[in-house]
Amino acid sequence: MKFFVDTADTAEIRELADTGLLDGVTTNPSLVAKTGRDFFEVIGEICSIVDGPVSAEVAATDYETMLEEGKRLAGLGENIAVKVPLTMAGLKTCSQLARAGTQVNVTLCFSAAQAILAAKAGATYVSPFVGRLDDIGQNGMHLISDIVQIYGNYPALQTEVLVASIRNPTHIVEAALMGADVCTVPPQVLKQLVSHPLTDKGLAAFLADWEKTGQKIIG
Ligand code: E4P
Repeated sequence: MKFFVDTADTAEIRELADTGLLDGVTTNPSLVAKTGRDFFEVIGEICSIVDGPVSAEVAATDYETMLEEGKRLAGLGENIAVKVPLTMAGLKTCSQLARAGTQVNVTLCFSAAQAILAAKAGATYVSPFVGRLDDIGQNGMHLISDIVQIYGNYPALQTEVLVASIRNPTHIVEAALMGADVCTVPPQVLKQLVSHPLTDKGLAAFLADWEKTGQKIIG
């Protein structure tokens, strides 16, 4: 499974890129707004940090403007995935951009029916939002399971399931068990993944025993 980080904060992206765990980045208008920076400058900088796909979202809602924005965004870097909303105009934009060889991430997916349309439109990625479904009392991971199963019925489909709106490590483990292609993970959740109290306890005990030997591996 690929890991994208869900942030527009370039300091966080640099830190995670250095770990070698990162396969790409997703942003959205809210994440870019949080940085207080110029949109094109921040997306350009992210593209220079990571080689993998960088999702940058259009802000228009009509097809013509969306397509124009998408083309401009695609020009920012070879690794841009233009993000369009799951609306009729977004799907039409997706079809056009995909035909021209641009990667497209169809976002704000909340149903299996919508995910079928994203695949039909030639999306590179479909982004179902699990956390936001959980927030309204539905089960976001059931949607992932349905989409993975549906796409699996049609092996010729190229669209990857990109699990978005992730809130905790359990979402990621369940997504991996279901065979989802990508998780886009907030930086704090990516850091939570590594933690286990028994790892900390075990390491402390090993180091204490090693100290008693008086030996050194280096120096
Ligand atoms: C990423 O592509 C999505 O925009 C993001 O995961 C949404 O997350 P949120 O529901 O926490 O805002």
